[in-house]
Amino acid sequence: MEIVNGFENASIERAVELLKSGDVIAFPTETVYGLGADALNPYAVAKIFEAKNRPHFDPLIVHISRKEWTYDYTEEVPRDAVRLMNMFWPGPLTLILRKKPSIPDIVTAGLPTVAVRMPSHPVALALIDVFRKPVAAPSANPFGYMSPTKVAHVARMLKEKVPLVLDGGNSVFGIESTIVSFQDNGVYIHRHGAISEEELSQCVTITRDIQTDSLYRSPGELPYHYAPTKPLRIIHSADEIKAANSSFLAFREPAEKPVSRYIKVLSKTGDLKEAAANFFSDLIELDRDDVEIIYAERVPDTGIGKAIMERLKKASKKGQIK
Ligand code: TXA
Ligand code: MG
Repeated sequence: MEIVNGFENASIERAVELLKSGDVIAFPTETVYGLGADALNPYAVAKIFEAKNRPHFDPLIVHISRKEWTYDYTEEVPRDAVRLMNMFWPGPLTLILRKKPSIPDIVTAGLPTVAVRMPSHPVALALIDVFRKPVAAPSANPFGYMSPTKVAHVARMLKEKVPLVLDGGNSVFGIESTIVSFQDNGVYIHRHGAISEEELSQCVTITRDIQTDSLYRSPGELPYHYAPTKPLRIIHSADEIKAANSSFLAFREPAEKPVSRYIKVLSKTGDLKEAAANFFSDLIELDRDDVEIIYAERVPDTGIGKAIMERLKKASKKGQIK
């Protein structure tokens, strides 16, 4: 894998050439790094699944660089979707809309809907704009693993699987986009993410949290996900840590030094945005060969904290579900 500076035109040109020839490339977004391919080329999209080692197909997010493209690839854009687009795009919000036939089935795993998002990272926008076509991309991690927020993570995780990665620095949000859908005049949250429910509510009325309703779950919303290799246990405070041969992901600076071998503090001051930005990269660092278990301290279930807790809960379920 070659790592090139994504802010240089020559790098964008090279990435676009690869996309045109049906290859996959890794690129930065403001949430996490993505593994991209030409969204309109089913063979190219199949390579994404191959590189990620996904055992089955899972619907992907289609990334665009101009709001108008939404109308080229989807049938119907509800009023609330337009409001959200105007308020949060470019940015970490994904809208699920009814797809046009030009979007291949492999992108949506056969669903009649497609997930669309316009990222705000300048390198992602330049890439898509020069390519002049939408780019389908999941997070650039092997199946079930945590999402990469640094170019070094991508290099480590996908080494021989991807020819090129555009370096765009560390992802500022550090957590994936928020996903919403529109059904029966309601607005539903599918995945809590970088834009909080409170922020969305300033613009539209949220009907319900779909996570609680298995009926609406998409095939990709597995109960386990985002998981480290080592088992993870969620705890209320460092007092619950007994094993020294463990890692500890603390929310804020602990009052006393915990017994764990490796410790990461998400935010010294307890700032949730800072915690989200550090979340995946800290967890990746704590997922060491020489520990038995990772303890993770609960974070407040408000704002972006909801997205962190959602990911922690999924990570803690790995191994319990077959
Ligand atoms: O921030 C992000 O969203 C990152 C960056 C790279 O843009 N991407 C990302 O992609 O997180 P991925 O594949 O890891 O997660 C996409 C999620 C999956 O849970 C999938 O099930 C859901 O989006 N999804 C995609 N299309 C859908 C659809 N038509 N209906 C319901 N859920 C859908
Ligand atoms: Mg992912």
